[in-house]
Parts: sequence; structure tokens; C-alpha cells
Amino acid sequence: MPATISTRPPAQKPTQTALLGLGVYRPSRVVMNDEVAGPIDSSDEWIQTRSGIRSRRYATEDETLVDMSAAASRAALNAAGIAAEQVDCIILATSTNFSLTPAAAPQIGAALGLTDTAAFDLSSGCSGFCFGLSLADDMVRAGSARHVLVVGAERLSDAVDFTDRSTAFIFADGAGAVVVGASESAGIGPTSWGSDGTSADAIRQTKDFLTYINDVGTQGSDAVRPYVEMRGTSVFRWAAHSLEKVCRDALDRAGVSPEDLDALIPHQANGRITEVMARTLKLPPTCAVANDIVDAGNTSAASVPLAMEALLRAGEANPGDIALLIAFGAGLSYAAQVVALPPIS
Ligand code: UT7
Repeated sequence: MPATISTRPPAQKPTQTALLGLGVYRPSRVVMNDEVAGPIDSSDEWIQTRSGIRSRRYATEDETLVDMSAAASRAALNAAGIAAEQVDCIILATSTNFSLTPAAAPQIGAALGLTDTAAFDLSSGCSGFCFGLSLADDMVRAGSARHVLVVGAERLSDAVDFTDRSTAFIFADGAGAVVVGASESAGIGPTSWGSDGTSADAIRQTKDFLTYINDVGTQGSDAVRPYVEMRGTSVFRWAAHSLEKVCRDALDRAGVSPEDLDALIPHQANGRITEVMARTLKLPPTCAVANDIVDAGNTSAASVPLAMEALLRAGEANPGDIALLIAFGAGLSYAAQVVALPPIS
């Protein structure tokens, strides 16, 4: 007779989870529009009008992806009042870990003093943080982790061609992290998510690394390295006009109506996309709308936790408030969920 497999007793499966704490790391170097406008024949006025960006931050050499992630994680743990040893899994959402292997997440663990904790990277472009949140919620409710650190971190200044008009002024660097764990009240609603690989080339790396190596072989130092490129206008249209139903689906699944929302925290892709979303959802005037892009730029997988922190830090929203998160980008991919906002440190 085959052996039977024991499963976790229900007592070890909490039914409700929440964001227990939030922390961020904003890199030290502030870069104004004038600095990026020259090589793309642009202007401060054009950039502010078309994207909402006034400045962004670039990491220095010392501010590595792992360092920024570890700093954000420490702040999140501090806000949650959780010791690092109580974390059973670290999920790092990023598109800018330039080593295919090993993943960066175990190194975040090491920086936190954790050497036996599950940790892995997740690649889902700008949606990565909300994808990670969905996994963390499921892991805690399934009993496979007590606490999960979900980190979104990017060093996009390493990936951008500063002469490319559709990316040079948009993308930026930063990190944000949350601790997900069991909670007495429900703090994370069901995720509405998906992807459409027929538009894989809308946001992509210009060439893969094997092609680059071959190019170096044939062209030597003339070979052009891979960069991130984006078909900006079509991504804009998709994001501004197709994601309303994803937002409404996440709200319906959580049993929350737009009028009940205290905050909308969309991926900070473009201030005009955020405006369209807020308008089409017909949010009440009391609903705070995150606009961190003004001084953070588009930090891809880091943008949702960074924008969440900015709202809380400014007092425009408070811990416990009900917020809709919606992230979208390369893949194309998207994910949305309703959450109760966490404390910050
Ligand atoms: O994070 C992942 C998801 N990303 C997004 O959701 C980003 C979505 N896309 C965007 O945010 C916008 O498409 C951009 C901000 C990237 C570009 O704005 P746009 O309004 O779509 O610009 P466009 O490419 O349609 O160009 C409009 C005009 C053109 O001039 P004409 O033909 O109207 O005379 C361009 O030549 O603006 C010109 N232009 C620029 N001018 C100054 C395009 N890029 C620039 C520039 N500076 N950087």
C-alpha cells in the first residue's frame, strides 16, 4: 500500500492575512529633468506635461539592488514589529538583477542575517510587486510561511539608453518592501491578474545576452549592449483604457465599491494614466490618489510600495485605510488587489 502524505492541520492555516509593515529605500542622487532632457532633445516642460515627472532618483554604485532591498526590508520589519528570524520566505520582484543566476533574494536574506530562509526572484516587470503580494497571501493562508517579505526593487538607470526618447526620462531606481502575515482582520483581498504574451515586444530588452555576446564577437567594441525599450504610446493606451475592468474585478472580489476606497495606488507609469484611472473609476473626492511619480519617476516593480509609503508619510492616507493597488507592465502583465494600508516605520 502506498504511503499517505500528511498535510498541514487546519490550525496552522490562518484564514486572514494583512500587510503588517512597509519600508522603502529612496536612492540618494536626485536627478532633475534638465539633466536627462539634453540627450533626447526634450525639456523639463515636455517631461512634466507628458509624464508628470519633475525629478527621479538614481542609485549610486554603492546603492546596489541588494543593499536597497535590504534597507527597505529592515524598515518594513521594524514597522511590523517582526524579527527577521520570523520571516520564512523572501520574494524579490525585479527586472534589474543583471545576474541570471544566482537570484538576488537569498542575498537580501543574508544581509538580514537569514541563511536558511526560502528566497527567490520574480520577473513580471512593473506588475511584479502585486504578483508577489498574491503569492505571499496564498503562502501564509496555506500555512507554508508565517511571514513573507515581498520586495520590489529596481536599478533601471543601469538598463536605460539615455538617448532613447521613450525611456530615458521615465525610468528610475528605488526599493520598497512589505511584511505579509496572519491577521485578525482581512487585509488583503483576492488578486485579479493576468498576462498577454501576444504583446511581449511592447516593453522588452532590445536583445538577449547571447545575441550581445555574438555581436561582441563580430563587432567588437562597436557592439551595442542590451537596453530596455518601450512602445510608449501603445502601452499608454492599453494601460489607460483596458485596466478599468481589472480594477473593478479586484474591487468586486473584495466586496468593496469605488465609493468605499480611501486610496488608489496604481503603478506609477505616467501621471496621465493615473488621472484616467481615477476618472473612469469615479472615485469620491475623499479618495487619495498616489502621485509619487512626480519625484520618483517610474520605478517599475518598486513603484507601488514607494507610492504607498509616500501617501502614508504625507498623511494623505493612514494605516488601516482601504486602498486599491493596480500594477501593470512588461509581459504584458497586470495584477490588482484591495488592501488595508500597513504602518510605516
Ligand atoms: O511602466 C511600464 C508601463 N509603462 C507605461 O505605461 C508608459 C506608457 N507610455 C507613456 O507614458 C508615454 O507614451 C510616454 C510618456 C513614454 C510618451 O508620451 P506620448 O504622449 O505617448 O508621446 P508620443 O511618443 O506619442 O510622442 C508625442 C510627440 C511627438 O511629436 P509630434 O510627432 O507630435 O510632433 C514626439 O516626437 O512628442 C514627441 N516626443 C518627445 N518630445 C520631447 C516623444 N518623446 C519625446 C521626449 N521629449 N522625450
